[in-house]
Amino acid sequence: MAEHIPTRNANEIAKLKRAGEMSARILTEVAGFVRAGMTTAQVDAYAAELFAREKCGNAFHGYCGYPGHICISVNEVVVHGIGGDRVIQDGDIVSLDVGAIVDGWYGDNALTVPVGNVSESGRRLLAVTEEALYRGIAEAKQGNNLVDVCGAIEDYVKPFGFGIVRDYVGHGVGRRLHEEPPVPNFRPNDRMPHLKRGMILAIEPMITMGTYKVKVLDDKWTAVTRDGQPAAHFEHTVAVGSHGGEILTPRPRSALPEQLGITP
Ligand code: MF3
Ligand code: CO
Repeated sequence: MAEHIPTRNANEIAKLKRAGEMSARILTEVAGFVRAGMTTAQVDAYAAELFAREKCGNAFHGYCGYPGHICISVNEVVVHGIGGDRVIQDGDIVSLDVGAIVDGWYGDNALTVPVGNVSESGRRLLAVTEEALYRGIAEAKQGNNLVDVCGAIEDYVKPFGFGIVRDYVGHGVGRRLHEEPPVPNFRPNDRMPHLKRGMILAIEPMITMGTYKVKVLDDKWTAVTRDGQPAAHFEHTVAVGSHGGEILTPRPRSALPEQLGITP
């Protein structure tokens, strides 16, 4: 079990929220910029401009040598896709992951955008992954155990037959990008900590159309599904509250889960 999980007071949470709002603003703007015909390098360059405009720190650029400004993960790329020559096509799904630093506090969030005409199964994958994130957030409340968050995501996704990535998990976030505890999207074997008010979690389901198994490409970052089928990724930074997680990276929910009748 995690050794030490920080709890943050109201003043600290207000600062985290500024970093979270910054992360959300940049993510939302980049998501609105993505079009078929662009390269992922163009998307990364646009994100770099936004970071410069906002004069905030970038949580990913240079992190363990990560070369991009954000992560741009197309179709079979699950996470950590680096902007490059790949041209985004009509029908692609593009996962975008953005982390900002404001006054030394970190925000981390992600979403997957459908580009043009995405297949029905692709849209379902997005809707289920987004809904899974909110199911997890609802359980991020004091008195619960972290396993309630993990289990809510697993239980929600399983009946759809999608894969739940195991090699990458969510995490605590705060003064660093990655703090305690790890936040898997499935019930782990080991015991999990009880949740206390003010713990900060980055909850980030990574869900695949086929196998949950992933491999990392020779660039040491790009994680792809082993069967080449697409994956989706949605993430928020939340503060454990009394009734559920308080979202520190606010953005509008997409209309997809409701449109597809995914929400009961
Ligand atoms: N949301 C991801 C994470 O928290 C993004 C990290 S990308 C990296 O692990 F470039 F910073 F590694
Ligand atoms: Co994260």
